[in-house]
Amino acid sequence: MKFEKAAVIGAGTIGLSWTALFVGHGMEVWVSDPRPDLREAVDAALAEFGPHLGVTLDPAKVHLAKDVTEAVRDADIVQENGPENVEFKKDLFATLVKEAPSHALLLSSSSAIPSTAFTGEIEDASRILIGHPFNPPHLIPLVEVVPGERTSEEATQAAVEFYRFVGRVPVVERKEIPGFVGNRLQNALSREAIYLVEQGVVTPAELDDVMTNSLGIRWSTVGPFLGSHLGGGPGGYRHMAEHIGVSMKKMWAGLGQPEQGPAEQEELIKAVEKAYGSSTYSELSETRDRKQLAVLSALDSATSVNKEEN
Ligand SMILES: NC(=O)c1ccc[n+]([C@@H]2O[C@H](COP(=O)([O-])OP(=O)(O)OC[C@H]3O[C@@H](n4cnc5c(N)ncnc54)[C@H](O)[C@@H]3O)[C@@H](O)[C@H]2O)c1
Repeated sequence: MKFEKAAVIGAGTIGLSWTALFVGHGMEVWVSDPRPDLREAVDAALAEFGPHLGVTLDPAKVHLAKDVTEAVRDADIVQENGPENVEFKKDLFATLVKEAPSHALLLSSSSAIPSTAFTGEIEDASRILIGHPFNPPHLIPLVEVVPGERTSEEATQAAVEFYRFVGRVPVVERKEIPGFVGNRLQNALSREAIYLVEQGVVTPAELDDVMTNSLGIRWSTVGPFLGSHLGGGPGGYRHMAEHIGVSMKKMWAGLGQPEQGPAEQEELIKAVEKAYGSSTYSELSETRDRKQLAVLSALDSATSVNKEEN
């Protein structure tokens, strides 16, 4: 399948990042979004994200479409990044099926809504599926590829091929589950993080320090299972499960259920703002992006050393 023309529907945080990534891989992109500052937002994103990708991104490669129909008319792939709302996605995908060429893949960035939830009334849903990125998609490699109940195997494989084409690491998930895998993991951790702050064990900034100085570093090199396999020493995962795992399992029942009613939520928001509110969004996101690029580049070098050794 050829991947020359992309339509990006919704150019907020995620859509702008995808746009930069697609242009960075030689694609021409048609963007549709009712926001009045669309041209400025696209140009600013291309200028900011180009250096992350090590290329100059040509604004002439991005066309502003007057509506969704115009955006998808010649598309090989459509990446949807509109509001996280089932009704919106139902209407939009009904339009996409009618207006996009019959070979076009119809992908949704949805963080938590499986495609079967918004394709029930669509006669042929065979080329609709989730391609869920992590923010920002032009930097974080993973894309969760989640077929719906009626997505064809060909479309799933084409989505894998497409995300590899734009330098991502696609992982196909075999069952639809709200939140998919990444956000379920993230949510499980966030729930405990919120609980620990609510209980006064640590402040938001201290909690973040715990993560970035331990699990964050570990998990960018080994996932939880390989981490535990190594944590078990030469006895591996079996030793870990039968030894420390026993006391860890006993802890499951006591994991936190935060309150997060309106008052607790307000208190938490204030605590996070106290920790980070003196910096602007762009200061914080630039620092995050610089550090994430450094991690990715270090991981790349470590992987090439391994390849040379083997
Ligand atoms: N922000 C994240 O961390 C993140 C990560 C992964 C996936 N996602 C998913 O990506 C999608 C977009 O999230 P976001 O954070 O970029 O949201 P966002 O609010 O930044 O952007 C949404 C954009 O959609 C536009 N829009 C509204 N109606 C539209 C229409 N009819 N046609 C075209 N565009 C329209 C809005 O103007 C806005 O620019 C959601 O489904 C979300 O779940 C978000």
